Amino acid sequence: MSDAAFATLMHAQPMVPQVAHVRGRRKDTPDAWTLDLELANGARLIYAPGQFNMLTAFGVGEAAISVSGDPAGGPLIHTIRAVGPVSRALTALEPGDPIGVRGPFGVGWPMAQAEGKDVLLVAGGLGLAPLRPALYRLLGERARFGRVTLLFGARTPEDIVFRHEVESWRARFDIDVDVTVDHAASEWHGHVGVVTTLISRATFDPCNALAMICGPEVMMRFVAMALVEKGFGEDAIYLSMERNMKCAIGHCGHCQLGPTFICRDGPVFTYAQLKRFLAIKEL
Ligand SMILES: Cc1cc2nc3c(=O)[nH]c(=O)nc-3n(C[C@H](O)[C@H](O)[C@H](O)COP(=O)(O)OP(=O)(O)OC[C@H]3O[C@@H](n4cnc5c(N)ncnc54)[C@H](O)[C@@H]3O)c2cc1C
Ligand code: FES
Repeated sequence: MSDAAFATLMHAQPMVPQVAHVRGRRKDTPDAWTLDLELANGARLIYAPGQFNMLTAFGVGEAAISVSGDPAGGPLIHTIRAVGPVSRALTALEPGDPIGVRGPFGVGWPMAQAEGKDVLLVAGGLGLAPLRPALYRLLGERARFGRVTLLFGARTPEDIVFRHEVESWRARFDIDVDVTVDHAASEWHGHVGVVTTLISRATFDPCNALAMICGPEVMMRFVAMALVEKGFGEDAIYLSMERNMKCAIGHCGHCQLGPTFICRDGPVFTYAQLKRFLAIKEL
């Protein structure tokens, strides 16, 4: 099936999982795996950075998982932390095993709005996975953007996802990469501290910059507040939200946050949109 015909099919039948197979599997951290998928009909899923798919572990259930690969091509890639029944079943799949895919869903990162601006990506832990497609796009179309900076925080050195790739980005001259961990043994020679401590080391023009943040909610709130203090506008700060999802198309109400549905109106929102909800505990 052609990629365009497949996109039309997915749009017409958003609740029907399409069968794909696991092509490759890599353990990224002690509890997270990256799966390369291949659709059974041979088509390529076209998606925007920051969008997600609903992945089915047959016989177990479905979970929302961001696409973590290169939107310009290559296999369909997802990086998954095993936290519960569905994610454990997904991360246990072996090459050749079937998996269900429906999507892509949601509004992704503001790539068009970022053109001509300094772009600051701030990732916490597995939050680097949904940001990785944005980073591929920024590096693939490098001349369209100003200074590009990645600030990445993980709990420990072992929790650094895409470790080799992070090192290869760090070696480039067209992106600034700064990494920190919360705790480390003596063999770690890098920065120790929460990711907000990296902000004062980064160079950007807050009057002409855009930030994309992904990680635990408390981390995103503190990063957004620190960026506002540095002069960022609240509508130039974008965050990707997570909530339990069922339909992923704005019908069931499972992912409601205030007046919005995260699956349909997000998962990426501006800090200006989210600020009052982020301040309410457990909402
Ligand atoms: C838009 C979107 C994108 C997402 N992208 C990714 C992704 O790229 N990779 C990924 O691994 N997950 C991602 N998630 C989260 C993922 O959907 C959930 O982790 C998943 O639903 C877990 O299902 P489960 O049945 O395995 O666990 P559940 O039964 O739902 O949860 C089991 C336990 O784990 C806790 N838990 C649930 N989710 C998380 C989490 N993310 N981190 C820590 N603890 C959690 C729950 O509170 C519960 O205590 C995304 C969610 C959304 C909404
Ligand atoms: S998951 Fe059903 S409305 Fe968002």
